[in-house]
Amino acid sequence: MQTLTVGLSERSYPIHIGSSLLTQAELLSKAIPRKRVAIVSNTTVAPLYLEKLKNTLQSIGVSSVEIILPDGEQYKNSDTMNLIYEALLTHRCERTTPLIALGGGVIGDMTGFAAASYLRGVPFIQIPTTLLSQVDSSVGGKTGINHPLGKNMIGAFYQPQLVLADTDTLNTLPDNELAAGLAEVIKYGLIRDLPFLEWLEQNMDKLLARDTVALQYAITRSCQNKAEVVAADEREIGERALLNLGHTFGHAIESGMGYGVWLHGEGVAAGTIMAADLSQRLGWISAEDVTRIRTLFERAKLPTVAPDLGVEKYLNWMGLDKKVEGGKMRFVLLKKIGKAVVYGDVPPVLLQQTIEACTRG
Ligand code: NAD
Ligand code: GLY
Repeated sequence: MQTLTVGLSERSYPIHIGSSLLTQAELLSKAIPRKRVAIVSNTTVAPLYLEKLKNTLQSIGVSSVEIILPDGEQYKNSDTMNLIYEALLTHRCERTTPLIALGGGVIGDMTGFAAASYLRGVPFIQIPTTLLSQVDSSVGGKTGINHPLGKNMIGAFYQPQLVLADTDTLNTLPDNELAAGLAEVIKYGLIRDLPFLEWLEQNMDKLLARDTVALQYAITRSCQNKAEVVAADEREIGERALLNLGHTFGHAIESGMGYGVWLHGEGVAAGTIMAADLSQRLGWISAEDVTRIRTLFERAKLPTVAPDLGVEKYLNWMGLDKKVEGGKMRFVLLKKIGKAVVYGDVPPVLLQQTIEACTRG
């Protein structure tokens, strides 16, 4: 097992990464003040891992309230949040009852938001079970839900007390969901870790074959990158925005197509190609760099051409991005491979060219 720390002074917390962690009660016990927790999961993950988690908790005398939600990005909304609140109230969960998120990023984001808001804040534990949630969403405290007018628009920064990434859970993950997680892994290499990007180029086949050593390394290195960024800029005043490479375009794809039609990681992959294309049009990176990036995403079995929503729709959705400042769109772009910046002065004609060049009907 590897343990990293997200350094946020009194709110610092560990990320444990390894095999069989779901059975290790001692990792959980410190974060559970009384002998009761509420586990939030969904109809896909609960049949796979809920019993195991409950047994581990029972071994240290902890009982569980179970809250099983419908599965899917299309349920990451206020109606589903209400189901969580209702269950917590019905079972009289108290301020000392931690919420445990058992699932992917959708469950993690909603459970975190419920923990931030129920009784004005209760403890929160992340047990991420997708590659994407193990390398990204479970770390850093961004929680929330979608709104019909925009992705992840309602939420709170609220840090967990503990992240437990049991790599065994990835054995049951469908191939397209594994690939979606790789999009966020590649992101760290592109924005700030060139040696990791080179490692990914050398080890992509092992990752796709679910080689346990390679996966554990990729998760740990990703979490190291994320923990460093979050510790430096928890509330995204500056550097943390770089973690959104490909997301301005990607969120437009997800919202424009209807939540759940494109996976988040798929939108990030096609969106990153758009960001790379725009960076090239600005003269920052070369055509060879863009090809290098596209090749890596293709090897990860991710889409590199975005859907043709039309330029106007892209601009409308991107105008709702959380990075918009004073009505001006800001993009995460590549100065070079391994170094991203936030840039607010993209000439509209270049943006239009990128949308036209990178989309297909
Ligand atoms: P997800 O939560 O929808 O999970 C993907 C699918 O895999 C679901 O059907 C889920 O039920 C299933 N699943 C989960 N674990 C499984 C397992 N071990 N075996 C088999 N099936 C399993 O999607 P995701 O990719 O994990 O997360 C995407 C979400 O995360 C998006 O809503 C995105 O906005 C959010 N996100 C948040 C942050 C953040 O910082 N908070 C960062 C990145 C993404
Ligand atoms: N996934 C982007 C962030 O956590 O900031």
